[in-house]
Amino acid sequence: MLRKFSVFFVAISFIFFIEKVSTKFEFTNLNCETLNKSYAEFEYCYLKSINRTYKYLSVKVNLLKKPIGKVKVRAALFKRFNGWRPFMFDMTVDACNFLKNTKSNPAARYFLDLFKPYSNMNHSCPFDHDLIVDKLDVAHINNQATVVLPFPEGDYFLETHWIAYDIDRAVVKLYGTLS
Ligand SMILES: *[C@@H]1O[C@H](CO)[C@@H](O)[C@H](O)[C@H]1NC(C)=O
Ligand SMILES: *[C@@H]1O[C@H](CO)[C@@H](O)[C@H](O)[C@H]1NC(C)=O
Ligand SMILES: *[C@@H]1O[C@H](CO)[C@@H](O)[C@H](O)[C@H]1NC(C)=O
Repeated sequence: MLRKFSVFFVAISFIFFIEKVSTKFEFTNLNCETLNKSYAEFEYCYLKSINRTYKYLSVKVNLLKKPIGKVKVRAALFKRFNGWRPFMFDMTVDACNFLKNTKSNPAARYFLDLFKPYSNMNHSCPFDHDLIVDKLDVAHINNQATVVLPFPEGDYFLETHWIAYDIDRAVVKLYGTLS
């Protein structure tokens, strides 16, 4: 495990040196799909632009078979070259283990920090309530992707799979551009 994280960070530092680092993140699209409507349903899933600087993302998923005590999350990043290619990471994390000690996995922690301040998911298992990401500010993602950990310019999408009891239940894809 440790080795995998070191590779993750070394790879990122490497890219930092060879490519132009971006300074601005913009959302381009958001897509939420449930794989079983009697298990989980999206109440809403949208991007909103209030003005030129304030844009946000909101998602709410109703869990219909609560409580959920076994959760894994798969997060994979894709970048557009000639077509979409896997980029930097494709990791599956046992969320229940990870949330007991978020320092245990720096890559997963980076991913959690992307939405944690805006969500009600920052607690240990089980999950016995609907899951919400409320008005996740583009400025926060911008800071995470250009200051905390600088990524190169380009078009990206982050694909996340929400897995309960080892069955894929929902897929959320967030598209964005770093320029
Ligand atoms: C959908 O989820 C329900 C509730 O857990 C389950 O009974 C049903 O078998 C699932 N359907 C499919 C197609 O997996
Ligand atoms: C954008 O909207 C936010 C929230 O309403 C407001 O606080 C901010 O001042 C606005 N920015 C501009 C540039 O109008
Ligand atoms: C939830 O967030 C608080 C404040 O950011 C933090 O102290 C706590 O460790 C977090 N809990 C989990 C389970 O991540």
